Amino acid sequence: MFRRLPEIETATQAVSFTIDGRPASARAGDSVAAALLANGVTACRTTPVSGAARGPYCMMGVCFDCLVTIDGTGNRQGCQVRVAPGMAVETQNGKREVER
Ligand code: FES
Repeated sequence: MFRRLPEIETATQAVSFTIDGRPASARAGDSVAAALLANGVTACRTTPVSGAARGPYCMMGVCFDCLVTIDGTGNRQGCQVRVAPGMAVETQNGKREVER
């Protein structure tokens, strides 16, 4: 469903990171949400009430359907964070506890 434009595919450097512990690759400057989609991950969380799958939708910080755990911190908006080398991205199931 999602694929990169050919000119973008070759114009940027690769960034290695993990998705649920699996090695993955993105392009420098990708948001985490874009990197997930580029790696075939279309559902990055489930809702706390029904357990329905959700994935990045607006890609601009409005819908909150892109919530993931990044380097151990939950409820991060994947579309608002750039992927970085060595970053550990985890999909979320249900709700996350609020850190105090
Ligand atoms: S995709 Fe909508 S807030 Fe991130």
